[in-house]
Amino acid sequence: MTRRRRLIVGNWKMHGSSASLVEARQIAEGAPLNGPRVALCPPAVLAHRLREATLGTPLIVGAQDVHWASRGAHTGDHSADLLADAGVRLVILGHSERRQAYAEAGALVARKALAAAAAGLEPVICVGESAEADGREAAAAAAAQLEASLPVEIDAPLAVAYEPVWAIGSGRRPSPSAVREVHARLRDVLAERLGPDAAGRTPILYGGSVTPRSAPDLLRTPEVDGLLVGGASHRAADFLAIVRHAA
Ligand code: PGA
Repeated sequence: MTRRRRLIVGNWKMHGSSASLVEARQIAEGAPLNGPRVALCPPAVLAHRLREATLGTPLIVGAQDVHWASRGAHTGDHSADLLADAGVRLVILGHSERRQAYAEAGALVARKALAAAAAGLEPVICVGESAEADGREAAAAAAAQLEASLPVEIDAPLAVAYEPVWAIGSGRRPSPSAVREVHARLRDVLAERLGPDAAGRTPILYGGSVTPRSAPDLLRTPEVDGLLVGGASHRAADFLAIVRHAA
């Protein structure tokens, strides 16, 4: 029996507009009660409106990044307090697109995770190997990234997302046995760093070309506690199909 409630997170990246709030509302209203926790991470400028459009529903509004400082001269950035004030409750951190485009290293991701947790946001720390590899190699790469990205002291709830970079937006995915091997290794890292109880409570999501078709097999894979969904989270029908598979 798992102690972890499933978590399905939609990452809109730099897509969507105010017109997409209709889809968000459909997702919020269509997600089954007693199903998984469901979060949508729109571009930050839409977060507050998405929150207002889905008030009264259990949908979690998320963000895609945060600054590590609580305030200051950081042109263009958002603090965790600002995001929380806009209704955000969860934040994706260390996504491979940010690690690549902005050279975000593990230590920076760890600082951001601490800042997020201090403001009451649930960090979703992303890790994953860049080039296609077998389960053992992928597990070693993802584990090393997690070790570098986990704050030394964090006792707030968090989640981890395993996203093989080569699987993002490519239509390709690792085998279920490889995903299982990586997730088990990530769970070991969590246990070493946070202790067995916190590790047992921490959901480990899979992300990378998740679709309504691939979701059932992924969700059946042991150690997979949920999904981080990019492209298939834009349309309510697709995202809801994935959410229902997780219910
Ligand atoms: P994808 O993106 O589902 O479109 O592959 C996943 C992600 O980058 O989080």
